[in-house]
Amino acid sequence: MTDLVATARALVASPKGILAADESVPTATKRLASYGIATSKEMRRQYRELFLNAPRIDEYLSGVILHEETFNQKGNDKRLFRESLAARGIAPGIKVDQGTEPFPESPEEFITNGLMGLSERLAALKSSGAIFTKWRAVIRIDGDILPTASAIHENAKRLANYAKEAQAAGLVPILEPEVLREGKHSRQRAKAVLEDVLSTLFSVIEEHAVDRAGLILKTSMALSGSDNRHTDIPREVAEDTVDALIKSVPSQIAGIAFLSGGQGPDAATDNLAAITQLAHERQAPWPLTFSYARALQDEALLMWQGKEENVPAAREAFLTRLAKVSTACGGR
Ligand code: 13P
Repeated sequence: MTDLVATARALVASPKGILAADESVPTATKRLASYGIATSKEMRRQYRELFLNAPRIDEYLSGVILHEETFNQKGNDKRLFRESLAARGIAPGIKVDQGTEPFPESPEEFITNGLMGLSERLAALKSSGAIFTKWRAVIRIDGDILPTASAIHENAKRLANYAKEAQAAGLVPILEPEVLREGKHSRQRAKAVLEDVLSTLFSVIEEHAVDRAGLILKTSMALSGSDNRHTDIPREVAEDTVDALIKSVPSQIAGIAFLSGGQGPDAATDNLAAITQLAHERQAPWPLTFSYARALQDEALLMWQGKEENVPAAREAFLTRLAKVSTACGGR
């Protein structure tokens, strides 16, 4: 087994998962503002400190996806976050895409930038201690009109090119084609789009000679749109998600990590438990785990409010949620 494959497998080994702490500066600013916290570079550093230097997170986390800003910042202990994580056995990873822009052929959809100069950036990150990387594409559903086949294909091509470059640099790639929840669509429509996106991705991956055993897929669950009136129950989510994955994801990949996609912490936990349980019953071939941002952070941010005196209670809320999500990913 190559080092890359061993690293990828370790990242998805149950019952640990991956914290997504790679919000861009505008997203982090919006997120903190929604809790009444005014942001600055220092406030964002304290926000990361809250989660990354919390005690006992190594019991639940195999890795953390960092944003470039955080990758180069230090915690209150004056050590680089990436180094203190590594010292606790938590692999530091980094988001390497450079965000999205409208797709010229279909301007209501998005393509992800960041391939230019990527190999040089990856080499520098590898020598600074990064273990893995992430690239996010977004897929928008609008009735039967979006996504278009060409947007799906263009995003798949970019994900495959990224994966190849990351592996060449000795960094595990996490491929995240996020099917957005925003919209009125049904869960059945989300499932069909998920299948289409993942089948296209893995057929393009095949053409690009990417080592499937050395990559991780980060995916959405099959969920009703956020403006659809139906409330999904976990068994329904599990049926449609596991079905879509079994139809479109090759057995050889190292594993699958789910994003939370704006579900509340409880829904993200219960749906994950139902998915892992059903995948186990159906003898699905890949390890499954979590790679949540919002569903792991929300309760802690509510407690924290940007105040030093609230840090212990906020960290307690974070650890409680981590324990629940980690149990859910054990499936039983
Ligand atoms: P959420 O879990 O908040 O959807 O974020 C995961 C992620 O990495 C989005 O890019």
